Amino acid sequence: MTATIIDGKAFAASVREKVAEHVTRLQEEHGITPGLAVVLVGEDPASQVYVRNKGKQTLEAGMNSYEHKLPAETSEADLLALVEKLNADPAVHGILVQLPLPDHIDEEKVINSITPAKDVDGFHILNVGLLGTGQKSMVPCTPLGCLMMLRDQLGSLSGLNAVVVGRSNIVGKPMAQLLLRDSCTVTIAHSRTKDLADVCRGADILVAAVGRPRMIPGDWVKPGATVIDVGINRIDAPEKGEGKTRLVGDVDFDSAKEVAGAITPVPGGVGPMTIACLLANTVTACCRANNLPEPEGLTA
Ligand code: GUN
Repeated sequence: MTATIIDGKAFAASVREKVAEHVTRLQEEHGITPGLAVVLVGEDPASQVYVRNKGKQTLEAGMNSYEHKLPAETSEADLLALVEKLNADPAVHGILVQLPLPDHIDEEKVINSITPAKDVDGFHILNVGLLGTGQKSMVPCTPLGCLMMLRDQLGSLSGLNAVVVGRSNIVGKPMAQLLLRDSCTVTIAHSRTKDLADVCRGADILVAAVGRPRMIPGDWVKPGATVIDVGINRIDAPEKGEGKTRLVGDVDFDSAKEVAGAITPVPGGVGPMTIACLLANTVTACCRANNLPEPEGLTA
């Protein structure tokens, strides 16, 4: 059997289209334009690319984008002062401080200084607690994107065995909470898990978020399982020429696609969904701030 390949690029485009439709409605019916502020400290090249893409896609969806680029030497106090200003700005509905921050800045302190209702990353400790207790919260973008793809692929997730490999605060833990909320039986596995292969083989839903290239081979995948590969790993690709590289996931795609029922590729799977869900979260935050109904199909 060859798996259905889940097209994250097309799915993300459909999410962005829904976001843009909702933005138009907010503007026409209420005179409100959602606004997203993105803060970048320093000159990390990967972060610069992310921030540029976020700004571009925010504008394409019809929203306002506010970019704040600060030098790497910016003090923690100055960054906290900027967050305070954005917290108080009614035109800003979502705030994202790009991570990682320079070493002299306490990341947790900065994240927890963002007003929880504007925390479109869903990283604030209050949002983490709300998600964990099944209450309305801002949900981290990557797990939200994975959940949308799983629901689209499978319909109800109720009763399915879900294994999340990886226990990060950004992906693994919130992913497990979302799957639990959709009534899956959830296992969080990680580098110290005993018999990881057998644990994975029990998964109807396998989410890989460890950051280790092609760590999960096809014979760890249950026949017919839905595999969501969150990993984005750059490896050498001598077959493409000297010094060339390419991106691979945490799952060995070639062997896993022969066993799985459905699988996300890398690139073109989960990756494009993350920014699409950031835009979705910004619209959600804007609706909540204005006591308006939330956009259908764009929240958890
Ligand atoms: N850096 C890499 N991914 C992310 C993300 O999802 N949010 C933030 N704030 N920083 C990141």
